[in-house]
Amino acid sequence: MSEERYLTFALGKGRLANKTLELFEEIGITCEEMKDKNSRKLIFVNEELKLRFFLAKGPDVPTYVELGAADIGVVGKDTIVEENRNVHEVLDLGFGKCRMCVCGPESARELLKHHERIRVASKYPNMAKDYFYNKKHQTVDIIKLNGSVELGPLVELSDVIVDIVETGSTLRENGLEVLEEICPLSARMIVNPVSMQMQTERIKDLVMRVRQKLAEKQ
Ligand code: PRP
Repeated sequence: MSEERYLTFALGKGRLANKTLELFEEIGITCEEMKDKNSRKLIFVNEELKLRFFLAKGPDVPTYVELGAADIGVVGKDTIVEENRNVHEVLDLGFGKCRMCVCGPESARELLKHHERIRVASKYPNMAKDYFYNKKHQTVDIIKLNGSVELGPLVELSDVIVDIVETGSTLRENGLEVLEEICPLSARMIVNPVSMQMQTERIKDLVMRVRQKLAEKQ
């Protein structure tokens, strides 16, 4: 048999990566090296299964996967839509559930009804633009922020925000509300299109095992 090449995974750093590793462990895919929290290593290998893992910033995961530096990625649907890379989305992992919403003070609700030109702050300018221009047919000014987006309406940088709502507590604690829901979100598995063709059996097998495990857990 020809020597099997490594299958490489790019995982979005943080909660999603931890959840993914927990799930993989349940189907017998482990990476002991990754459990050492003091390690400064960036790439972790399971020699026996010929797997490699690395952690990356969420928005970089689709880039690694599209360009083939990783065969498989795990990242939020929000990032997949926002980055719009050429990758195959193969599985909804069901965790990391949240919603992309238009949020703001109650007083901003009226502004959304009358096609007024409003200012929208977001970490997701492409999703915000798509929603307002293509779905609502409302011309808006998009202001790109990199985090703590809820500040936008509080300091009058923007009228509303387009952001992720999970528990809703950030909104509540800051006197803001969900004004419109754009779409539900969760963690997804993505695959490089060439890897999908060259490693079809291995990838299909992995997806099937993960899918089965998720079904068992429901
Ligand atoms: C995300 C999101 C909201 C918050 C929503 O921010 O942008 O701010 O979580 O969660 P909640 O509904 O449970 O309060 P994150 O913590 O990723 O940090 P950021 O604001 O710096 O992007």
